[in-house]
Amino acid sequence: MGHLFNRNIIVGVSGGIAAYKSAELVRELRKLGARVKVVMTRGATEFITPLTLQALSGEPVHIDLLNEAAEAGMGHIELARWADALLIAPATADLLARLAAGRADDLLCTIALATPAPIMVAPAMNQHMWSNPSTAANIATLMKRAVTVIGPAAGEQACGDVGPGRLVEPEHIVAQLAESFSAQSLAGRRVVITAGPTQEALDPVRYLSNHSSGKMGFALARAAAEAGALVTLITGPVVLSTPMNVERIDVVSADDMLEAAQLHGAGCDIFVGAAAVADYRPATVSGQKIKKSEDRIVFDLMKNPDVIATMAVMEQRPTLVIGFAAETEKMLEHARGKLLKKSLDFVIANDVSRSDIGFNSDLNCVSVIDHTSCTELPLANKSVLAKRLFDMLASRLS
Ligand code: PMT
Repeated sequence: MGHLFNRNIIVGVSGGIAAYKSAELVRELRKLGARVKVVMTRGATEFITPLTLQALSGEPVHIDLLNEAAEAGMGHIELARWADALLIAPATADLLARLAAGRADDLLCTIALATPAPIMVAPAMNQHMWSNPSTAANIATLMKRAVTVIGPAAGEQACGDVGPGRLVEPEHIVAQLAESFSAQSLAGRRVVITAGPTQEALDPVRYLSNHSSGKMGFALARAAAEAGALVTLITGPVVLSTPMNVERIDVVSADDMLEAAQLHGAGCDIFVGAAAVADYRPATVSGQKIKKSEDRIVFDLMKNPDVIATMAVMEQRPTLVIGFAAETEKMLEHARGKLLKKSLDFVIANDVSRSDIGFNSDLNCVSVIDHTSCTELPLANKSVLAKRLFDMLASRLS
């Protein structure tokens, strides 16, 4: 629980009967050394007074979106930047719906939109409201966006019903929050990741490439950095911003990627090849723009170096070399083939024939294969999957 010391936590409180438990939650967080600011919806103030939460948090309670007292009138942005985590407990069905829809119609939802910090919600509502398909769809949407959902617990409810919908007890909510800060499983480890496509020039204006957006590799880099690793991200041309605490090396072609990988990846703890490296490049690159004249044009292609296979046999081999396998058929069989052929420790297989996962999607679902086992990681946001992957890899390293 020491992981909460000096952390900036925004506790969001929405308007349900369980709002009274937020007092206990704030007290527990403060006891463990967290700095707590409370943001309430108008509805929440019907169930518990702001004064109570102000006294327990030792900070003014925030309710209104437009706050003239805050610097430059941008109180929601200041709060969003201040937070190390946004914890909403209780989260009512209405609040979950507004979060899922991306509404910015009160201070709490606006902070949720504006904050780069991780978001956790602890739902509390009547059991029928919880099992209603609308709520289920909203929860699924939030989970896809990497929001952590804590509970709800089952049992006797304030309305007399018995079933799922009770707020998880504050001490368990606090324990889960603390755990999310404790994930420093890669502290001091050196992790090198490739991401995105490569571009192989045909002439000064054209190139061969593929649909990789870099999202998977960038999510891996973010997760490794959050787990305490020193991360180098070698990326082909993408339009993503660099995750915090990550060293970024921009490259264009497979040759450039190999050179950067050898330079930065030698002797590292984990090397992950999430890039979609072009297998072939034009054998010659025209110095001038190729003119349109013939009805057909034939290009001579030559094989590119295999970045990950080279890393796996180099003298200063990384401790773990992990490839991805982008497959459209016989996924497991082909992925196992790559594991052996490229001398990898793991291969992470994804089905890129599906439009909802793989290339340029926020979601993925993968099979993690090593020489003795195969573990399925079900459909999830790429950031969530990346965290799970590094949890597995960290335990293998240690
Ligand atoms: O970037 P996104 O839009 O988020 O999409 C993610 C992804 C689908 C690109 C990613 O999840 C993925 O599958 N990456 C690997 C893509 C690929 O090139 O797969 P492959 O099966 O052709 O290659 C197998 C492995 O060899 C990969 O680790 C690849 O990086 C590596 N390779 C391939 C060719 C080459 N010349 N050098 C390599 O290092």
